[in-house]
Amino acid sequence: MTLHERDTELFFHTYKRLPLEIIRGEGAYLFTADGKRYLDMFGGIAVNALGYGHPRVLQAITDQAARYIHVSNYFVQEPQVRLATLLTRLSGFPRVFFCNSGTEAIEGAFKIARKWGSSRDKREIVGFSNAFHGRSMGALSLMDRPSYRDGFGPFLPHCTVAPFNDPAALHSVLGPNTAAVILECIQGEAGIRPVSTEFIHVLQRLRGAFGFLVIADEIQSGGGRTGKFLACEHSNLRPDLVTLAKPIGGGLPLGAILGTQLVAGTLQPGTHGTTFGGNPVACAAGAAVLEELIATNLMQQVTDNGAFFTGRLMQLCSDFPTICKEVRGKGLMLGLELAQDGGPVVTAMRDRGILVNCTDTTVLRFVPPLIVSRDQIRETIDTLRTVFTAGVQPPPQ
Ligand SMILES: Cc1ncc(COP(=O)(O)O)c(C=O)c1O
Repeated sequence: MTLHERDTELFFHTYKRLPLEIIRGEGAYLFTADGKRYLDMFGGIAVNALGYGHPRVLQAITDQAARYIHVSNYFVQEPQVRLATLLTRLSGFPRVFFCNSGTEAIEGAFKIARKWGSSRDKREIVGFSNAFHGRSMGALSLMDRPSYRDGFGPFLPHCTVAPFNDPAALHSVLGPNTAAVILECIQGEAGIRPVSTEFIHVLQRLRGAFGFLVIADEIQSGGGRTGKFLACEHSNLRPDLVTLAKPIGGGLPLGAILGTQLVAGTLQPGTHGTTFGGNPVACAAGAAVLEELIATNLMQQVTDNGAFFTGRLMQLCSDFPTICKEVRGKGLMLGLELAQDGGPVVTAMRDRGILVNCTDTTVLRFVPPLIVSRDQIRETIDTLRTVFTAGVQPPPQ
């Protein structure tokens, strides 16, 4: 029995596995059991900021594992303090709560918003259409896509989903009962869709009028991916709470909520917590990522390489107008919307040694390791050009 057959037999069928058996990673490359090398342009779904096997991350993991792997949150832990200090320095938010994953950060932010609202007679939490906040019941209650929600209801009460990027709709949805809104400033799973300036402008105005909290979900867009530490900085949006995960544990499971002093004060000892959250090995790995980000001025490199990548993708759009529709995103969080299903392109790219991801059916998503080089971006563009020139066939029915 092959590993894939055994996998199919053993697990709940919640994932569509790629037909690859990874045995090793190095930099932006993955190597498979059959001796092939792949350029990874989706980086473990925007997790592996420094790629695979980065010496600084490996050293941090080994050193911390040798000291202690887990002691529980009864104890002050130096790696937690080190990572939290870096997060507050990079984000400007003074308070941090560590958890284990993105959806758990959302769940915590949701609870903070409810508690903050409960003493102010504000109950409603508002999310936006097509967003992705994770798989917990709290996250699902703030999303609208049937593919994530169907069959899982009933959802939590006093949750509303309003149309994304529709400023007029904000007027009818937000009011004195609104406790919080949650948004991705660049929607990731929805196909790399940035929030509009007008939408943020109206949101800010209504926030001033009604005094609700703004939660920025930066789980995919945060950690320097867009060239700034948080994507909301591009929109001059200063949220009250920020959720982070993906890159901040250096590939180990870690999530975080960042908040202002005022909002963090909503929680007292015993009101929220986790056994594993802020695991010291994950925090040490995450601290190594952020130290490297600062030491190498990586966000500037992301900005420059992102602009280069965007320019080349736009060139592809004008060279192949019947295949490509639009390029969206910032830094190294980019989407190329196709006029057709992206699945065959993903397969054709993989056959040529490049892993890209397709989201929202027609959008090729590029969220590579932040250390990806110009040459690797060029190689991706050249290979896309080859695939488009050969003509992408729809998959057999
Ligand atoms: C914007 C956003 N929020 C939340 C999540 C959920 O994170 P996790 O899968 O770690 O629970 C994701 C995951 O892709 C995400 O992209």
